[in-house]
Amino acid sequence: MRPIRLISLALLAALAGLWGASWALKAPGEGIGESFARRIASFTGADIPPPSSGGVVMPQGLSLGGPFSLTDHTGQAVTEADFAGRVLLVYFGFTFCPDVCPTELGIMAQAMEDLGPQAAQVTPILITIDPERDTPAALAPYVQNFHPAMRGLTGTPQQIAEVARRYRVYYQRVQRPDMTEYLMDHSSFIYLVGPDGRVRNLFRPESPPEAIAAAVRGVLRAG
Ligand code: NI
Repeated sequence: MRPIRLISLALLAALAGLWGASWALKAPGEGIGESFARRIASFTGADIPPPSSGGVVMPQGLSLGGPFSLTDHTGQAVTEADFAGRVLLVYFGFTFCPDVCPTELGIMAQAMEDLGPQAAQVTPILITIDPERDTPAALAPYVQNFHPAMRGLTGTPQQIAEVARRYRVYYQRVQRPDMTEYLMDHSSFIYLVGPDGRVRNLFRPESPPEAIAAAVRGVLRAG
């Protein structure tokens, strides 16, 4: 084998290793994209470039999102096609969540307020990762408490597992000995989805609402 081929093979192996390490070593609540970006950055000694519009930079070629088949908080069946052409702010969480989910959904609602009239083109969505308790009837008052336009989506455990896989969402049921109700451990990102259904940005927990609104405006401008 010529040395040049050996070098490119070694590079490929190194990249594959980094991708694997991103999966294995990602911090709790951290997405695979962010973990990969962080690992690439630590490998090259560079800082992760600051995103222009807030959120985590999506590495080239990483695709999140896509088709889903779920049920909304009014009991209607919905798919990604029902939201085609709209900009979405998507959060995966659950109504029993004591702290993180309400904070993030509140941030999403504030970003909607910051958008003013442009919010009419945006749908905020909570997709539950606790379908056992989060029935449409449980989701309806919960999402409406945050924003009148917010949609709550649930489904069968299989449907939820499928959409979580497409968005690389981590979730796990946890039972604490001192609590009668179980909790869900889960990753926490706000996903900005473009009109084509592709994820454009991820926002870390406690991102400023105005940064999210600015990123939404950028996507609306670009179409
Ligand atoms: Ni939560």
